[in-house]
Amino acid sequence: MSFQNLLIEHKGRIQYIIINRESKLNALNKSTIAELHTAFSDAFKNPEVGGIIITGAGQKAFVAGADISEFTGAGIEGGGEIARKGQKLVFDLIENGNKPVVAAVNGFALGGGLELAMACHIRIAADNAKMGLPEVTLGLMPGYGGTQRLPQLVGKGKALEMIMTADMVTADEAHQYGLVNHVVSQEALLAKAEEILNKILVRAPLAIASAIRAVNAGFAAGVNGYEVEIEEFSKCFGTKDLQEGASAFLEKRKPDFKGE
Ligand code: COA
Repeated sequence: MSFQNLLIEHKGRIQYIIINRESKLNALNKSTIAELHTAFSDAFKNPEVGGIIITGAGQKAFVAGADISEFTGAGIEGGGEIARKGQKLVFDLIENGNKPVVAAVNGFALGGGLELAMACHIRIAADNAKMGLPEVTLGLMPGYGGTQRLPQLVGKGKALEMIMTADMVTADEAHQYGLVNHVVSQEALLAKAEEILNKILVRAPLAIASAIRAVNAGFAAGVNGYEVEIEEFSKCFGTKDLQEGASAFLEKRKPDFKGE
């Protein structure tokens, strides 16, 4: 499948999804949101894909936010639809994906761009990255999950400070706050993302998917995360991967997980 606003590349079992609107700093317009939905849905279903790295085209931006040119004239209902559709189609889809998704933040990650990175399971930032939720400078507030995911990562006080001041933080500050997992040089960014993903890819895939579901359950309103953990833990006992993992340990060899 070919896309207008995305580049798709494969490297072994890693799929790259590259947002490719460099002249607009990779801003997320409606068609990019729709394409991201298709690309992630396909990647999650594709048995050849073990994990996904998402990044932005060019040296300057991961994603500089939702496309501001689509905001004028949207109206209250239109605004609600932008947020509801976007959250469901892309941000919640990624967060609840059955495969690990790593954001390689290669520059500005602002507004919807930071929200996109925060929906991913792991974030690696290049040292030139700048992150923030500047929506209030536009008379708006975050609408792609930023008010929920930023406090989960950095705590309520820092999140409210970032949202209300609209200040950007540097990659090192983001690391200090727990907003990104690692900071590396621009040149080392994709290698670091691949290194982490490759480590995950030799682990048991169904157990990874279960762990994602259990961790997410702890942040879902009205859901008992401990109960979900028990359910997902017990599901692992029905997998061939557990038999393989335990046998490999006892036989002092490396496991060969098939995701079955
Ligand atoms: N939506 C639509 N277009 C955007 C955009 C966005 N979120 N962010 C950048 N662009 C466009 C600019 O309009 C410009 O297009 P043009 O060349 O056709 O005029 C192009 O991308 C380059 O951006 P520019 O502002 O000229 O680059 P800069 O280096 O001077 O500034 C930023 C970089 C990121 C600081 C600045 O682009 C910016 O503040 N962007 C908006 C960030 C934001 O508020 N995001 C939240 C949206 S809810």
